[in-house]
Amino acid sequence: MSTYLEAIGRLREDLVQANYFVDPVLEAISDQGQLGLERNHTVAATRALAGREDGLATLIRLFVLQQSQDSEVVNTVLKANELVDLGILACEGNQYKALVDIRPYADETDGTSGWVVSDHTATLDTKQGRTASNHVLGISPASVSLAGITPRRPVGHALDLGTGCGIQSLHLARQADHVTATDLNPRALTLATLTFALNELEVTTRLGSLYDPVHQESFDLITTNPPFVISPTIGPRLTYRETDYPCDDLMKTVVQGASPRLNTNGTLHVIGNWAHIEGRSWQERITEWIPQGCDAFIVQREVLDIYEYIEIWLADAGLRGQLTYLENYEQWLNYFDELKIEAVGMGWITMIKSGSPTPRVICEHWPHPSGTNLADDLMAHLTVMDYQSWSQEKILEKPWVLAPGTVQETIGNPGEEDPTHIILRRRDGLYRATQVSTALGAILGACDGDLGLGQIIHAVASILDTDPARMITEVLPEITSLISQTWLKPGVEDSQPL
Ligand SMILES: C[S@@+](CC[C@H](N)C(=O)[O-])C[C@H]1O[C@@H](n2cnc3c(N)ncnc32)[C@H](O)[C@@H]1O
Repeated sequence: MSTYLEAIGRLREDLVQANYFVDPVLEAISDQGQLGLERNHTVAATRALAGREDGLATLIRLFVLQQSQDSEVVNTVLKANELVDLGILACEGNQYKALVDIRPYADETDGTSGWVVSDHTATLDTKQGRTASNHVLGISPASVSLAGITPRRPVGHALDLGTGCGIQSLHLARQADHVTATDLNPRALTLATLTFALNELEVTTRLGSLYDPVHQESFDLITTNPPFVISPTIGPRLTYRETDYPCDDLMKTVVQGASPRLNTNGTLHVIGNWAHIEGRSWQERITEWIPQGCDAFIVQREVLDIYEYIEIWLADAGLRGQLTYLENYEQWLNYFDELKIEAVGMGWITMIKSGSPTPRVICEHWPHPSGTNLADDLMAHLTVMDYQSWSQEKILEKPWVLAPGTVQETIGNPGEEDPTHIILRRRDGLYRATQVSTALGAILGACDGDLGLGQIIHAVASILDTDPARMITEVLPEITSLISQTWLKPGVEDSQPL
């Protein structure tokens, strides 16, 4: 083990020496090169590197662009023989090629940075490569999205379920005393172990399905981007995206299995798909997944029609252009017909082991862009559930604080004194916006945690020369709804940050 760690240590030193970090790489391949790579094309990045023979260019060509390099050149940057022994490089004549993708990663929201090891994509530059069933996916949009919805509060023990290339553990290691990373795919654990060693992280790795490898252990935080693709349970499977569970049962099993493994106030964060079944609301189905003793906030980010969904995932498997394409398409459609799947939702589940006797669940379709502090905003939706049981008297008696950073936009005809619409807009989290009346805008604007809500309403009613009791009747339902959307938090003594 020490020889392994020593060899990885030398690789790390070589990456540092060549300045193989996010910003220098982006600068070297240019914006167009980066956009090309996001479209799975290397041409722009290759042209941006033309004429460069330095170490940074060599590493990018080897590990990102999948281009073989002369052994002489590689030996000036890396201890190539050692990396052949580790399965990172392969020698072909007088050239070396990389057997894995190693790329720098940085997320300035929590300061995570390092390198991530994964398999090379099989379809770069429209190559008709067949993705291996044990393929280890690199950093995907879903990985980045999951990292963004996972809160970064300090925790004791965190679980990265289905670690893949290890990207979530890279984040978790900054906030948890101890991180456990699991995967069903042995190759994923091999590459995740490389990621952890390269970043000098101590992460416990366990092989096995879902919660099997963690037995009776319990966690303060579980985060997972599981293999959530809903596909026919026939033929070869791609372990990174699908399982033998029918329909969206994998997601349900992940959610329900978390409850016995979460400590009190421990949280689960999942990104994934759920089926829209004919004759049932998606909210009703997903709400049934939430186990006793837990509360959840479920956000549906988008809904794909079945044709678009199938086309996306057939392309992902590299099946576009294959002779069997239409046959595979038809099989998939038949499977959806059998299960009465009309559409597929994509979204986030944030669940807490609150101990509440009956699960409290909020489901929301929110397809709009989101901003910074997203994870904290999602968590706040769990906290506000407590205030929903408060009586009208208690809500009026309490001082409340309007979400920091809220701005007001007014819309009206040019030259007119009064606006026709007043919009309050949040500038972080879910980027919520709400239209308010002049009175409600004035009341919310005065919510700074000082005066009780009832006192504020009386003062505004007096300014607008209105009956305060009537104003309470008018604005309280809206204020209650704004509380449930985290626009308002109780003043200091009642707020309970998780
Ligand atoms: C979509 S990838 C996510 C990888 C990584 N966590 C991320 O955020 O990018 C799903 C991972 O789950 C693993 N996996 C598949 N089936 C599993 C199972 N039954 N139990 C645990 N992990 C599984 C796959 O091997 C793969 O690494």
